[in-house]
Amino acid sequence: MAAAVAPVIAESSGLPSTALTYGNRPLGSPEEPLLLRTFMPDPSLGDEVLGRHERGAKSPRYSAKKGSDVPGEYKPIDGLPAAIGVNYGSALSYCWDTVECRLLYVWNNGFLDMQNYWGDPSRGNRQSFGYVPNLVGTMFYKAGGKHPVQMGGKSLSDLPEPPKFLGYTKTGKRIIFSYSAGSAEIACEVSSGDVAHNLVIRYKVKGGGELGYQSSLPGHTVKKVSPSELIVTIQGSKIAQYEGSPNKNLLKGGVNAESGKRVFAAMACVTCHSLDGSKSHGPSLLGIHGKERKIKGANKPALADDAYILESIRNPNAKVVDGYPENYMPPYQLKKDEYQALLLYIKTLK
Ligand code: HEC
Repeated sequence: MAAAVAPVIAESSGLPSTALTYGNRPLGSPEEPLLLRTFMPDPSLGDEVLGRHERGAKSPRYSAKKGSDVPGEYKPIDGLPAAIGVNYGSALSYCWDTVECRLLYVWNNGFLDMQNYWGDPSRGNRQSFGYVPNLVGTMFYKAGGKHPVQMGGKSLSDLPEPPKFLGYTKTGKRIIFSYSAGSAEIACEVSSGDVAHNLVIRYKVKGGGELGYQSSLPGHTVKKVSPSELIVTIQGSKIAQYEGSPNKNLLKGGVNAESGKRVFAAMACVTCHSLDGSKSHGPSLLGIHGKERKIKGANKPALADDAYILESIRNPNAKVVDGYPENYMPPYQLKKDEYQALLLYIKTLK
């Protein structure tokens, strides 16, 4: 990996050593997802979704001077205290809640800005009451209503005994959450589908009972593999855009290669594109400007001029580079100047 972007390998904050961080923005990758147990933001989920949460729960006060929580000082926090954030690079981030035992929301093009929680790396402190990180990226699914999974024809929210989180397993890129539902045990795995804003969720029940799923939820397709296994496909669409900490101005100093380098780092392009000519999930961007590119399904190569590079970032499926998968690079919706800055930066990679 070229030194130009200098990703930091996470050592502190309990991150696995394979996680990449850019300042306060940690990321996983499609092969090595990052799983964070942290306070997660609540993007105005309904009361029915968070039926078992005590809204406005109290949190201990953190002392920047002492570097620890100060006992006895409490103030309500505006986050989900026992949720898990998972990131697969730019393609998929989701929030799974261990209290409600369900998927709460899903987004892409970013993960979390941890500044509130970890503090400003250059100053070494964090906001006294700011436990809750900020979302970064495009949200495209948000849970609504009661728990969509049913046992014996009843939503899990209506069972006499609420579902209880049993734990998760992480094997390579697969993460499986388990929870109890009466005397049965349900396993749930979330992955991204093969088109934009598409999700695939697998549910399996162990210990008897027939799995069901709430019918007629918009965008949901339910496939019953067997009485004990369901595959739910959800076609979401853009709900909201989040930018992380608001003070982050990637274009300070104008639209130039230097600010393009900052955009490149902030959007984590480097998780898929090397700058030194080596192959990664995507082609290396070293020296591509002005070169001919072989395009899948086309009998003539395309010239990688300014228009080609801008199109590759806005709409990666328009021309798919031969030898690479389509629907892999997320279509970036950036500010007009951010595209220009990226282009100027990519042109300097020689
Ligand atoms: C999740 C992986 C992934 C991320 C993140 C990603 N890309 Fe890509 N990118 C790809 C893949 C795969 C291709 C080749 C297939 C295609 O053309 O869509 C590609 C193609 C490209 C191309 C065309 C390259 C060529 O050889 O002609 C450019 C330019 C590009 N990406 C720029 C970017 C920029 C800039 C970012 C960040 C804003 C970015 N990419 C983020 C996976 C990614």
